[in-house]
Amino acid sequence: MASQIKAVGSVQDTAKIRPAFFDPGTLEWAPWVMEGTYFKLLNINPQSGGFTMMLKVDPDNQAPIHGHLGTVEGIIYKGGFGYGDDRGRELHYVIEEGGIAHTPDTDDDGMEMFAVVYAPLVGYEEDGSIAGIIDAKMMYQLATEHGVAVHLEKPAHWADI
Ligand SMILES: [Fe+2]
Repeated sequence: MASQIKAVGSVQDTAKIRPAFFDPGTLEWAPWVMEGTYFKLLNINPQSGGFTMMLKVDPDNQAPIHGHLGTVEGIIYKGGFGYGDDRGRELHYVIEEGGIAHTPDTDDDGMEMFAVVYAPLVGYEEDGSIAGIIDAKMMYQLATEHGVAVHLEKPAHWADI
Protein backbone atom coordinates (compact mmCIF):
# COMPACT_ATOMS: atom_id res chain seq x y z
CA MET A 1 0.00 0.00 0.00
CA ALA A 2 1.35 3.38 -0.93
CA SER A 3 2.27 5.79 1.83
CA GLN A 4 -0.42 8.31 2.76
CA ILE A 5 2.29 10.84 3.58
CA LYS A 6 3.03 13.05 0.57
CA ALA A 7 5.73 15.62 0.31
CA VAL A 8 4.65 19.02 -0.96
CA GLY A 9 7.57 20.72 -2.56
CA SER A 10 10.88 20.21 -0.79
CA VAL A 11 11.09 19.69 2.97
CA GLN A 12 13.25 22.28 4.68
CA ASP A 13 14.51 22.85 8.21
CA THR A 14 11.94 24.64 10.38
CA ALA A 15 12.90 28.07 11.67
CA LYS A 16 14.14 27.76 15.25
CA ILE A 17 12.25 29.45 18.07
CA ARG A 18 14.78 28.35 20.68
CA PRO A 19 17.98 26.27 20.83
CA ALA A 20 17.61 22.48 20.90
CA PHE A 21 20.37 22.14 23.48
CA PHE A 22 20.74 23.41 27.04
CA ASP A 23 23.62 22.82 29.45
CA PRO A 24 22.16 22.04 32.91
CA GLY A 25 25.66 22.57 34.29
CA THR A 26 24.82 26.29 34.12
CA LEU A 27 22.18 25.75 36.86
CA GLU A 28 22.82 25.27 40.57
CA TRP A 29 21.04 22.36 42.28
CA ALA A 30 18.02 23.72 44.19
CA PRO A 31 16.53 21.98 47.24
CA TRP A 32 13.44 19.92 46.33
CA VAL A 33 10.39 18.99 48.38
CA MET A 34 11.90 16.30 50.61
CA GLU A 35 14.92 16.37 52.91
CA GLY A 36 18.11 15.44 51.04
CA THR A 37 16.68 15.93 47.54
CA TYR A 38 17.68 18.51 44.90
CA PHE A 39 16.46 19.34 41.40
CA LYS A 40 17.17 21.12 38.14
CA LEU A 41 13.98 21.90 36.19
CA LEU A 42 14.50 21.37 32.45
CA ASN A 43 11.00 21.74 31.02
CA ILE A 44 7.39 22.29 32.06
CA ASN A 45 4.16 21.08 30.48
CA PRO A 46 1.33 23.46 31.44
CA GLN A 47 -1.22 21.27 29.59
CA SER A 48 -0.63 18.11 31.64
CA GLY A 49 0.99 19.55 34.76
CA GLY A 50 4.00 17.37 34.03
CA PHE A 51 7.63 18.42 33.93
CA THR A 52 11.14 17.27 33.06
CA MET A 53 13.86 17.37 35.66
CA MET A 54 17.22 16.20 36.92
CA LEU A 55 16.96 14.81 40.44
CA LYS A 56 19.77 14.32 42.95
CA VAL A 57 19.23 12.47 46.24
CA ASP A 58 21.64 12.08 49.16
CA PRO A 59 23.02 8.63 50.16
CA ASP A 60 20.79 6.29 52.20
CA ASN A 61 17.81 8.61 51.86
CA GLN A 62 14.44 7.11 52.80
CA ALA A 63 11.70 9.18 51.17
CA PRO A 64 8.10 9.27 52.40
CA ILE A 65 5.43 7.48 50.36
CA HIS A 66 4.37 9.31 47.20
CA GLY A 67 1.88 8.72 44.42
CA HIS A 68 1.93 9.16 40.64
CA LEU A 69 -1.03 10.68 38.77
CA GLY A 70 0.80 9.81 35.54
CA THR A 71 3.80 7.79 34.46
CA VAL A 72 7.40 8.79 35.17
CA GLU A 73 10.21 7.59 32.91
CA GLY A 74 13.87 8.17 33.57
CA ILE A 75 17.51 7.15 33.36
CA ILE A 76 19.79 6.96 36.39
CA TYR A 77 23.20 8.41 35.47
CA LYS A 78 24.92 8.27 38.87
CA GLY A 79 24.48 6.02 41.93
CA GLY A 80 21.28 4.09 42.42
CA PHE A 81 17.93 3.75 44.15
CA GLY A 82 15.04 1.38 44.40
CA TYR A 83 11.87 0.05 45.96
CA GLY A 84 12.80 -2.90 48.17
CA ASP A 85 14.46 -5.58 46.03
CA ASP A 86 13.52 -3.76 42.81
CA ARG A 87 16.60 -1.54 42.30
CA GLY A 88 18.47 0.34 39.56
CA ARG A 89 21.99 1.64 39.06
CA GLU A 90 23.85 3.84 36.55
CA LEU A 91 22.32 3.83 33.06
CA HIS A 92 19.33 1.80 34.18
CA TYR A 93 15.97 2.86 32.76
CA VAL A 94 13.09 3.28 35.22
CA ILE A 95 9.35 3.45 34.59
CA GLU A 96 6.81 4.19 37.33
CA GLU A 97 3.25 3.99 36.04
CA GLY A 98 0.42 6.40 36.81
CA GLY A 99 -1.81 5.33 39.70
CA ILE A 100 0.90 3.72 41.82
CA ALA A 101 2.25 4.77 45.22
CA HIS A 102 5.58 3.68 46.64
CA THR A 103 8.45 4.51 49.00
CA PRO A 104 11.92 4.80 47.43
CA ASP A 105 15.32 4.72 49.08
CA THR A 106 18.75 5.52 47.66
CA ASP A 107 21.92 3.41 47.69
CA ASP A 108 24.87 4.32 49.94
CA ASP A 109 26.35 6.54 47.19
CA GLY A 110 23.10 8.45 46.55
CA MET A 111 21.81 8.91 43.03
CA GLU A 112 21.26 11.33 40.17
CA MET A 113 18.74 10.79 37.40
CA PHE A 114 17.01 12.41 34.44
CA ALA A 115 13.22 12.08 34.60
CA VAL A 116 10.19 12.95 32.50
CA VAL A 117 7.16 13.32 34.77
CA TYR A 118 3.99 13.07 32.65
CA ALA A 119 1.56 14.25 35.34
CA PRO A 120 1.77 15.61 38.90
CA LEU A 121 3.13 13.71 41.89
CA VAL A 122 1.29 13.44 45.21
CA GLY A 123 2.98 13.57 48.63
CA TYR A 124 1.15 11.94 51.54
CA GLU A 125 1.12 12.52 55.27
CA GLU A 126 1.44 9.56 57.68
CA ASP A 127 -2.37 9.36 58.01
CA GLY A 128 -2.86 9.15 54.24
CA SER A 129 -4.01 12.73 53.78
CA ILE A 130 -2.44 14.70 50.93
CA ALA A 131 0.60 16.68 52.03
CA GLY A 132 1.12 18.34 48.66
CA ILE A 133 0.77 18.17 44.88
CA ILE A 134 3.91 18.58 42.81
CA ASP A 135 2.94 19.85 39.37
CA ALA A 136 4.55 21.93 36.64
CA LYS A 137 3.38 25.21 38.15
CA MET A 138 4.65 24.36 41.64
CA MET A 139 7.98 23.25 40.12
CA TYR A 140 8.27 26.46 38.11
CA GLN A 141 7.50 28.54 41.20
CA LEU A 142 10.06 26.63 43.29
CA ALA A 143 12.72 27.01 40.58
CA THR A 144 11.94 30.72 40.31
CA GLU A 145 12.34 31.18 44.08
CA HIS A 146 15.82 29.65 43.82
CA GLY A 147 16.75 31.65 40.70
CA VAL A 148 17.01 28.56 38.48
CA ALA A 149 14.07 29.07 36.12
CA VAL A 150 15.66 31.80 33.99
CA HIS A 151 15.95 29.43 30.99
CA LEU A 152 12.20 28.65 31.04
CA GLU A 153 9.38 30.76 29.62
CA LYS A 154 6.49 31.32 32.03
CA PRO A 155 3.12 30.39 30.51
CA ALA A 156 0.95 33.51 30.08
CA HIS A 157 -1.90 32.08 32.20
CA TRP A 158 0.41 31.74 35.24
CA ALA A 159 0.28 35.49 35.87
CA ASP A 160 -0.42 34.87 39.58
CA ILE A 161 3.11 33.57 40.25
FE1 LIG B 1 7.95 7.34 42.29
